[in-house]
Amino acid sequence: MGFGQLRQHLESLAAAGVQDLPRAAVGSLPGTVVEPGPAERPAGAVSPPAPASGSSGFLPLRQLAVDVLSARQAALDAVRAEVAGCTRCGELVSCRTQTVFGSGHPAARICFVGEAPGADEDASGEPFVGRAGQLLTKIIEACQLKRDDVFILNVLKCRPPGNRRPRPDEVENCRPFFQRQLEILAPELICCLGATAAQALLATDASIGALRGRWHQYGTIPVLCTYHPSYLLRTPAAKRDVWDDMKTMMRRLGVEL
Ligand code: URA
Repeated sequence: MGFGQLRQHLESLAAAGVQDLPRAAVGSLPGTVVEPGPAERPAGAVSPPAPASGSSGFLPLRQLAVDVLSARQAALDAVRAEVAGCTRCGELVSCRTQTVFGSGHPAARICFVGEAPGADEDASGEPFVGRAGQLLTKIIEACQLKRDDVFILNVLKCRPPGNRRPRPDEVENCRPFFQRQLEILAPELICCLGATAAQALLATDASIGALRGRWHQYGTIPVLCTYHPSYLLRTPAAKRDVWDDMKTMMRRLGVEL
């Protein structure tokens, strides 16, 4: 890793709320090898843990055959077209500039699920491109992933006026869309960002504070819940918890941050 890349990576970590790095995390920076001291080495380990990317062989995308990938893309495109023509929620249809389907790689191993588009997303048609989205991108990069390596979607595909919370009937109207997206993508892990996504996927009314930091299931897919990036913009102290959640998430894929 060159100095420029290292600086960029450290800036992403800092923006994601990481203020200090344990030796193991320094060792996980791509291209950086730090042998753990004897006290840090797990009993029975014969070699230091592999770095998280590059030479470790960690692949952020699934290795899918070309025909499987193109079938997935075609299925996603069909749902995208249905979403674009949806008129189920009268108020949202009358306020929206366009629908926001979601974006990312059809072979992504991780899918992030947010709440609903805001003003920037409504204007651009892309999820998480405003301030909260920029923070999400930094969190993803701090996980040693690229935004294009994951899939990002929202529970609602239309912006609620004034960025109000989605109403339960709106979540139910959009449920078939996000359900089908997740069915097609079949990610290895889902990360719910905030209470709306967590409650919609897990069919619970528990708070995000109660749900975060441990594993749940959406069908057969493991789900981790964490705070929404918008909450982090208002409450930077919670970035530490989100970073702990990201470490839990990446550990499940064999990556120690
Ligand atoms: N908040 C969300 O939940 N989704 C977006 O796309 C943007 C902000």
